Amino acid sequence: MLWADQPVAGSAFDKLARPYRWLEYLAFGRALEGCRLDLLPWLGGARRILTFGEGDGRLVAALVRRWPGVRVDCVEGSAAMIEQARARLPQGEAGARVNFIQADALGHELPVAGYDTVVTCFFLDCFPREDLAGWMPRVAVALRPGGQWLVAEFRQPAGGWAAWRARVWLRAMYFFFRHATALRARELPDWEAEMAVQGGQCAAWADRNAGFMRASQWIFPQKNSQNSPK
Ligand SMILES: C[S@@+](CC[C@H](N)C(=O)[O-])C[C@H]1O[C@@H](n2cnc3c(N)ncnc32)[C@H](O)[C@@H]1O
Repeated sequence: MLWADQPVAGSAFDKLARPYRWLEYLAFGRALEGCRLDLLPWLGGARRILTFGEGDGRLVAALVRRWPGVRVDCVEGSAAMIEQARARLPQGEAGARVNFIQADALGHELPVAGYDTVVTCFFLDCFPREDLAGWMPRVAVALRPGGQWLVAEFRQPAGGWAAWRARVWLRAMYFFFRHATALRARELPDWEAEMAVQGGQCAAWADRNAGFMRASQWIFPQKNSQNSPK
């Protein structure tokens, strides 16, 4: 199903949908791809998955190939990205388990305890911390007790040449995306702090590119009574 409520934040990415993959390979080779795929083993027990800012669909395609029993909702603002993602899905049963929703992630209504897993890949970096502070609590409530939020993201290493290199790359990327897509964020938001505020606990992680990219698994413990299924 495709819901189109216009204007949709994220549609600014339409013009990047086709070249997106090639721009990424040009800049980082296969490192980002590797970072996304590092999330797959943690999806083994998942059944109901929600992704935000899916992009051109490489993660969801790999996900349904590896774990064909899952059902996935993908909230993505760009119609052109959704088109790319649809085309990338395997045909048949696995493809039928993926539901694309064209909507602004920040305004999209979510069911209470509707999902056991949320996935965001290179998406949290699109928003300033104050946007995340308003939105992440709603996402946490959409998770079932004991659910997980999987994140692939850039990060700033603490020191040495890796820190210097990351600063240069981040400045260049924010400059590019600000002009290409009118991105509101100006720097990497401290989403990890926000995750902790919501009660998320980092259970596992895997770094790439000397710590410039990290795949991480955040568990939301059972205690959140708001999340109890009805
Ligand atoms: C930097 S790209 C990341 C794409 C992909 N997840 C990846 O790993 O490369 C950000 C994606 O989020 C989408 N997006 C940005 N802001 C959005 C919003 N407010 N609501 C929904 N989607 C949004 C864009 O259309 C784009 O596909």
